[in-house]
Amino acid sequence: MEQERGQFSSKVGFILAAAGSAVGLGNLVAFPVMASKNGGAAFLIIYLFFIALICYPVMMAEIAMGRNTTRNPVGAFSVLSDGSKRWRLAGMLAILTPFMIAVFYTVITVWLVVYIKEISIGGLEYLSDENTFSEVVARPSLFVYLLCLLAIVFFILLGGVKDGIERLARILMPTLALMLVLLTAFVLTLENASAGISYYLIPDFSKVNLSVINGALSQAFFSLSLGMGILITYGSYFSKQDSIPQSARMVAVADTSIAFFAGLLILPAIFAFDPNTNTDDLSTSSIGLIFSFLPKIFLSMQAAVGYVGASIVAAVFFTLVFFAALTSLVSIIEIPISCWIDELKLSRKKAVGMQALLLTLFAVPATMSLGISDFFTNFTSYGGLPKSFFDLVSDVFYETILPFVGFTVCIFCAYRWKVSGLKSELVVGDDRYEGSMLEKYINFALGTIIPVVLLVVFISTVFQIYFA
Ligand code: PHE
Repeated sequence: MEQERGQFSSKVGFILAAAGSAVGLGNLVAFPVMASKNGGAAFLIIYLFFIALICYPVMMAEIAMGRNTTRNPVGAFSVLSDGSKRWRLAGMLAILTPFMIAVFYTVITVWLVVYIKEISIGGLEYLSDENTFSEVVARPSLFVYLLCLLAIVFFILLGGVKDGIERLARILMPTLALMLVLLTAFVLTLENASAGISYYLIPDFSKVNLSVINGALSQAFFSLSLGMGILITYGSYFSKQDSIPQSARMVAVADTSIAFFAGLLILPAIFAFDPNTNTDDLSTSSIGLIFSFLPKIFLSMQAAVGYVGASIVAAVFFTLVFFAALTSLVSIIEIPISCWIDELKLSRKKAVGMQALLLTLFAVPATMSLGISDFFTNFTSYGGLPKSFFDLVSDVFYETILPFVGFTVCIFCAYRWKVSGLKSELVVGDDRYEGSMLEKYINFALGTIIPVVLLVVFISTVFQIYFA
């Protein structure tokens, strides 16, 4: 079994792969809009505060659990608690969560592929029509794209940690950063772009309230791919020679920088489109924004660069988002696979095959949830709203459960593994951790303020979504 377990080739390999997971729809779309609606730089400051004081410690704890045990989340919780059934259950939650998030993330990625295809055959104008999105998501031909996407993703995962996940990140992450910089530079040359920059960067603390603070923490947590078992698993592929605190810091910086840059792209683009944009009217949902609103923005650029020029800009943007989604998707599907390899003692080939089957089984109904099938479209209702199968999966696993998994990680590390156990892992490969301010902060906060804050976020999200 041991030789089945992969490892990243170096610290850089780990950082790129973890950043590949972290950089996703959250950075490119949700963050810019949240920042602009919630006080610009004021939101940014709160966000940075949470990244440093709450998310960074949880990130290190997750990576340390994985590296110490060289196991997937179920194995990690189980080994570190000497086989406790209750903690094994917490590990299972950290497998079920990525398993289900992968289901609806796959569906969104399929839509991105359809959009790229439409743009490349001259359909930008069609995509910017109000009704297009609901038409696209109800096309039975989505299944063809679904199969192609799954074939690509599982082919990459068959390559394993070094030749699959790490190689993908080594190619796509620099490409993504370059595309983002070029696109931002272009958008900043447009007329009225500066109005967007002011909106984004001038702090307005009057917009900050409890729900903004709650939203900033959820977004920070989600953006770093915490609470999804991802960093536990990636930690299990991380070398004992390298420093966890330093590498985690690099991932957090990369992820936050990309989110920040995405703001410099999206907001000036929106304001160049309509200088009188009221950011309060922007959709909070990343999905609505990417698929319904942004095509309109790109189309409006035809006045400056022609239809073909506007289509090229749109194609580059959607490809960028697709790359970000692909690296996130691969990272999240790897979590159950690592569990099947460790716990069921399957070969990687068999584990990948089994996961391909399981994911397809759930991704098909999720694809049918937006009009193809009545049953899955009107699947259930709660919080006073009708909900599809897709909504249900997204609400429960994406929106709600991440802070709860983060909470269990903190409680586990602080009271079961104990801060001394965590510390003994964090000093491996890092001789500066011992006695540092960071160590003192983590020893104190991991069992106190951090889990309390996460629990509050979890409870308030539950109330917002299910009992609104
Ligand atoms: N961190 C990702 C983002 O910002 C979230 C994510 C990771 C989602 C992995 C799915 C899979 O979008």
